[in-house]
Amino acid sequence: MRSSNPNILLGIDIGGTGIKGALVNVKTGKLTKERFRIKTPHPAKPDAIAEVIEQIAKHFDYSGPTGITFPAIVKDGVIFSATNVDESWINFDAAKLFQRHLGCPVSLLNDADAAGIAEMRFGAGVARRGVVILLTFGTGIGSAIFSDGVLLPNSEFGQLKIRGKDIELRASERIREKRDISFKKWAGIVSEFLEELEKLFSPELFLIGGGISKKADKFLPYLKARSHVPIEVAKMQNDAGIIGAATLAKIRS
Ligand code: BGC
Repeated sequence: MRSSNPNILLGIDIGGTGIKGALVNVKTGKLTKERFRIKTPHPAKPDAIAEVIEQIAKHFDYSGPTGITFPAIVKDGVIFSATNVDESWINFDAAKLFQRHLGCPVSLLNDADAAGIAEMRFGAGVARRGVVILLTFGTGIGSAIFSDGVLLPNSEFGQLKIRGKDIELRASERIREKRDISFKKWAGIVSEFLEELEKLFSPELFLIGGGISKKADKFLPYLKARSHVPIEVAKMQNDAGIIGAATLAKIRS
């Protein structure tokens, strides 16, 4: 059923462990119904993921413009990297496949970019000018960079080498948990990452999002940037990707 309210759109967030969807009121940035989650199939190949996307749209009895996030570089619906996903996605037109399954226009974007759009519109980035950098710490490290609210897509700062190694392989939330790194030590590593980004981009604000943002009280006191650039916690938490994706679908529809 096509939504009768043109401001309510479906957003879907594809992650390594779960694929979550919800109907979003893109005027308020709020979910209109409880979100629906299906475990990510393994192997996480295109057809299996597309089936899940279809099930989520069916669950909400939704047809209409749909926003979908993907945890990799996305250009014009095509996937260009696979650090945390199956290699079969590389050079694959994912938007076309999802569109075929849904029978509706699909806007596909990087997961951290989607989270950034949600934060800038409805969360911690509202009315923040200048350069704002959001970093998400989960299975990998995602990033989104904005200048006066305009997104520069696919920034991939998690691939930056700090002390000779991709920062994503040293400081994602998955690695922190796996290696049982204390929050204090983790914050030390991430502070070096922030300092490096600060040297390169002179941001006005850093936002910390992703799974780790729920534990802000444990790490925020230890995080620092070079010249006292404020470091704040993202507000949208788990729903940021869904909300950002639905917002983009509305902008493009
Ligand atoms: C990917 C990014 C993604 C991030 C968070 C990284 O491994 O390269 O594209 O945004 O994980 O999911």
